[in-house]
Amino acid sequence: MHPLFPALHVMILITCCDQTLSLLLLLHRLHVCFSTMAKFSAQIVVAFMVLLAQQVRAESGWNEAHATFYGGSDAGGTTGGACGYGDLYSTGYGTSTVAISSALFDRGLACGACYQVKCAGSSSECRSDSPAIQVTVTNFCPPNPSLPEDNGGWCNLPLHHFDMSMPAFEQIATYKAGIVPVMYRRTSCVRTGGIHFTMSGHNFMNLVLVTNVGGMGDVQSVSIRGSKTSWVTMTRNFGQIWQSTVNMSGQSLSFMVTTSDGKTVVSNNVAPPDWAFGQTYEGSQF
Ligand SMILES: *[C@@H]1O[C@H](CO)[C@@H](O)[C@H](O)[C@H]1NC(C)=O
Repeated sequence: MHPLFPALHVMILITCCDQTLSLLLLLHRLHVCFSTMAKFSAQIVVAFMVLLAQQVRAESGWNEAHATFYGGSDAGGTTGGACGYGDLYSTGYGTSTVAISSALFDRGLACGACYQVKCAGSSSECRSDSPAIQVTVTNFCPPNPSLPEDNGGWCNLPLHHFDMSMPAFEQIATYKAGIVPVMYRRTSCVRTGGIHFTMSGHNFMNLVLVTNVGGMGDVQSVSIRGSKTSWVTMTRNFGQIWQSTVNMSGQSLSFMVTTSDGKTVVSNNVAPPDWAFGQTYEGSQF
């Protein structure tokens, strides 16, 4: 045996052990490192899942429905209707309008609400860029119980259905599709100018049509005040036509309007004392 061998052996052993120790230390460090990373990545995964959940929740803000269209390309048929809006051009809603089924219409309380609607059908049915467009509820799509839900009875309970003006429908789908699946969600209404109050009726029966409402758009209660009266809560005649039996002739008029989110806007003295039936007066805005 070489005289140096034991020493060398010990050295090798020490080196070996040292390396083994180092290796063990390294493994330990790696383990610590990896478990830290694991914890960290677990946190990342959790954070990611939270983000994903929020995304899903945001996406779940979209609901499923179907859409058809009414009228022609000139948006014929955009007059009258269950909301009492009359001529939709003069009330400013134009063709970005929709009639909704009973499940959504809430017996007229939904009139004036705004929805974003996007096509969710096949590529042959939907416009290629499939934009989400905004429409205002201006009418009721009545149920037709004698027809099946998938053939004419689109607006039967409990279906969520959007019967859009043809120009609105054609922004998201091809008219040939006829009926398409859509996704929809409530959105706030963007309006130009103040809330409009259109007077009709008689001294003993004031009717006020409320249009051009921003914010949630769907008016849930209206009060009127003459310059010689206190606030009078109006009752809803139908759609967005509100009534009171208090004689307001010869008094300037103020209105208080509340939408479904509970927000209230007061429009003081919007109509002068010589206000007239058939006239429209402009108030404040949400
Ligand atoms: C309403 O009030 C006006 C002004 O005070 C009055 O001339 C009119 O006769 C009243 N109408 C009714 C139906 O009471």
